[in-house]
Amino acid sequence: MTNEKTGDSAGSTRKKVRVVDFPKMKADGQRIVMVTAYDYPTAMLADEAGVDSILVGDSYGMVVLGYDNTIPVTLDEMLPVARAVKRGASHPLLIGDLPFMTFQVSREEAVRNAGRFIQQGGMEAVKIEGGREIAPTAKAIVDAGIPVLGHIGVTPQTATLQGGYLVHGRTADAGERMLSDARALEDAGVFGIVLEMVAEETAKLITENVSVPTIGIGAGRYVDGQVLVMHDILGLYPKFVPKFAKRYADLATSVRDAVREYTREVRDGTFPEPQHVFNMDDEQRTRMMARRKS
Ligand code: KIV
Repeated sequence: MTNEKTGDSAGSTRKKVRVVDFPKMKADGQRIVMVTAYDYPTAMLADEAGVDSILVGDSYGMVVLGYDNTIPVTLDEMLPVARAVKRGASHPLLIGDLPFMTFQVSREEAVRNAGRFIQQGGMEAVKIEGGREIAPTAKAIVDAGIPVLGHIGVTPQTATLQGGYLVHGRTADAGERMLSDARALEDAGVFGIVLEMVAEETAKLITENVSVPTIGIGAGRYVDGQVLVMHDILGLYPKFVPKFAKRYADLATSVRDAVREYTREVRDGTFPEPQHVFNMDDEQRTRMMARRKS
C-alpha cells in the first residue's frame, strides 16, 4: 500500500515534495536542491541523499547518449528514462524537460507532449525553455492542469540563435529584459524559474522581484535553489566541465580504474576467484568424472 505522506511503500517518514512546496520553501528561505537524473539507480541514490527535486533533463542527450548538444534528443527517447527515474525516486518532485520541438510548433502540441510526460513518463511537472515569447505556451500547459517550470538565461535548445553559451544579464538593460521575461512566466503561472548562466546581480534582481522560486545553474548565490547535472556532480562527463559546476566526486577515474583492473584480471586469470564460482556437490562431481572415464 502506498504511504500517503511519503508517496512510497517503504513507510519512511520523509515528506513527499510537491509543486505547492516550492513557493513555501522560497517564503521560508529554505534553499531548494535539484539534480538531474536519467536512470533508476542514480534517481534512487539522489532520493536517499535527500534532494528536493529531480529533473529528467534533455541534457540526457549529451551526457548519456553522447550527442554534441541537446537538439537531437526526442520525447520518445526521454519517456523510458522518466519512467526509470520515477521507479527510483519517490520523495523528490519529478520534472520532465520538454525536448526541442515538442512545445514550439503550437500550443496544442505543447499541451499534448506535456501530457505525455505526465501520463506516460510518470512526471509531476514539465520544464520549458524560453521567456516572454513562450509564456502563452506555458499558460496553456498550466491551464491544462500541468505544472510548469520556466527556464531563461542560456537556453541550450536555442543556443545557436543566442550566439552560443554566453552569460546572460551582464548589463543593466539586459538584466531588466530578463526580469520582464521572468515576470511574463510568473504571470503565466509557472511554479519556478531556472536561471542558467546569468550574472549574479541579475539573478538576485529576478529572485527578489518574482514570487516564484528561482533555481540557478551558473546564476550565483542569490537564488532560491540550485540545480546541477548529475554527471557534473559525479565527474562522470570528462569531455567538458562548465565553470559553474562543482565536482563532488571523480567517478570517471574510478570507473576507468575499475574496468582497467577487471581487464587485467581477466587476461591474467586472477578473476574469477573461488568465491565467484558455482560448484556441484561432491557426489555429482564424482558421478560426472566416472561417466567421462567409462
Ligand atoms: O537539461 C538539463 O539538464 C537542464 C538543466 C541544466 C537545468 O535543463
